[in-house]
Amino acid sequence: MRRSLVAGNWKMHGSLQGVSALVAGLKGLDGAVGVDVVVIPTLVHLPGVAEALAATSLMVGAQTCAPVAGEKALTGEVSSTQLAEFGCRYVLVGHSERRALLGEDDAVVAKKFAAIQEGGMIPVLCVGETREEREAERTLDVVGGQLKAVIDAVGVAAFAKAVVAYEPVWAIGTGLTATPEQAQEIHAAIRALVREADAGVAEGLQLLYGGSVKAANAAELFGMPDIDGGLVGGASLNAEEFSAICRAAGRG
Ligand code: PGA
Repeated sequence: MRRSLVAGNWKMHGSLQGVSALVAGLKGLDGAVGVDVVVIPTLVHLPGVAEALAATSLMVGAQTCAPVAGEKALTGEVSSTQLAEFGCRYVLVGHSERRALLGEDDAVVAKKFAAIQEGGMIPVLCVGETREEREAERTLDVVGGQLKAVIDAVGVAAFAKAVVAYEPVWAIGTGLTATPEQAQEIHAAIRALVREADAGVAEGLQLLYGGSVKAANAAELFGMPDIDGGLVGGASLNAEEFSAICRAAGRG
């Protein structure tokens, strides 16, 4: 049985004061049953959040890192090795906002994926189609292509220590959620694609759904057989809402 996982992607939100209030509000999730919970603040807030949650079961992740591990002359970047020292456990890679606004292509995504694992952390690879691509019935091509690019670069065995998040771009921050059936269809296709390369890795792979997850739709989404949890943006900024989503993912 795969464990459930819920990750809260805070994106570029939060002041010192706001973040400390949010963290205080999340303490009730300590020891939540049947679900692993990760919060993903900005890089500047990460050390403080990691320290505040150190004695709890909640984990901390980062939204991005450099495409190489270790230390080198690379102005403005933070490596996975450095993040690991602060107790970071997961790193997002391939989020559609970074693909679209910062030009991160499959080659960069694959490099970052490898660098995250080199630093001893778990990459959360985000894949998803735009509305135009869905309307053109290209969803499986696009999502499969994003996934295959990384499998080809790093090998399928690397997915034994990775998470994949299916996030339809048209559902992110829009209030439009994929129906549980739409999401399940793509999750099953992602797992089938991995299964072609390695059945064992496919069975163990945690697949998260992301895109306007909220307390009101979480249980239905997480009830689908290939949806193992969620990657939550907007709703993760509200401690009560996020806690309810995490509880909905708990399978006991
Ligand atoms: P959303 O964002 O929950 O606000 O739609 C999800 C994400 O971008 O990870």
